Amino acid sequence: MSKLLEVEKLSISFSQYFKGLEQRELKVLSDLTMDVDDHEILAVLGSSGSGKSLLAHAILGILPTNAKVSGSIRYKGKEMDDELKQELRGDKISFIPQSVNNLNPLMKVKDQAIGYIEDEDERKKMYEKQRKIFNQYDLSEEVDDMYPFQLSGGMARKVLISTALLNDPEIIIADEPTPGLDEKAVEETINNLIELKEQGIGMILITHDIHTAIETSDRIAILYLGYVIEITDTKNFTGDGEKLLHPYTRSLYRALPETDFELTEGHQPSYLHIPKGCPYHENCPHQVRECHYELPELREVNGTIIRCFNPLVDGD
Ligand SMILES: Nc1ncnc2c1ncn2[C@@H]1O[C@H](COP(=O)(O)OP(=O)(O)OP(=O)(O)O)[C@@H](O)[C@H]1O
Ligand code: SF4
Ligand SMILES: [Mg+2]
Repeated sequence: MSKLLEVEKLSISFSQYFKGLEQRELKVLSDLTMDVDDHEILAVLGSSGSGKSLLAHAILGILPTNAKVSGSIRYKGKEMDDELKQELRGDKISFIPQSVNNLNPLMKVKDQAIGYIEDEDERKKMYEKQRKIFNQYDLSEEVDDMYPFQLSGGMARKVLISTALLNDPEIIIADEPTPGLDEKAVEETINNLIELKEQGIGMILITHDIHTAIETSDRIAILYLGYVIEITDTKNFTGDGEKLLHPYTRSLYRALPETDFELTEGHQPSYLHIPKGCPYHENCPHQVRECHYELPELREVNGTIIRCFNPLVDGD
């Protein structure tokens, strides 16, 4: 049976001018395949600039016009063309954007939450629903008439989450919902996301914070240089990482101090110089001959999806 949302071999690139008139291709996502079902949170974990927001924008159909895209995105088995993306956006598929700057500074919070509704009765009903949801997130009535600059960071985040819920979505794409929040607000946000999942929503949680991914998700897809290199059950991030099969994922987990670790830039070569063969081979202690000239395909090993010729097994 089809999953709620399936992404298959999604590639996104941009043409860039280099040294004046020379044009070159910057491939940001390559052959990305993943899926999410209802009652599930899939975390997409990758360093800054690894194409996470572009993945969200591709699903929502809001990519910049200069992006070149190939691959397939399906909602309940149905190919999402531009028309279907537009139909689902803000309705069955909701978006919690990365930045609170996505709030319109010139509009009262309640008005931007419900959006433009012509019919007066419909509008009234929507304001009532908005108030009910805001209440659930401890956003008092005064907040309705506030402008974004009057909100604290935590309140603005709650407004974004509440707004995403107004149309009873089946899928939520949450793009970095926790940065900039204090510890309590992070915990609250994580609990809110888990609650939504328990109510049946399927969620893609985009993050560069491995802690948030581990605390929140059911499965984690790890990006490296625009490739998904492993999709594994979150419960495999345990012990000293012996259940993680990809050398990059395991070294990432093992390098994790108990607090505040984030994927850092500098771990990865530049997108302009993606090496031939396995994208990780220049750093990989487990490389075998073909890693240098052949790109490993995604395949299943012990229930984990992995892009590697020589996966780690227990005891490695
Ligand atoms: N309109 C554009 N034109 C050219 N290149 C772009 C464009 N938008 C994004 N990119 C490139 O795509 C890369 C990935 O962007 P994206 O915003 O998806 O990264 P990200 O993983 O969300 O990063 P962050 O964690 O910092 O939010 C960027 O580093 C940039 O080089
Ligand atoms: S394919 Fe080869 S280089 Fe790449 S992660 Fe696996 S063992 Fe390492
Ligand atoms: Mg981003």
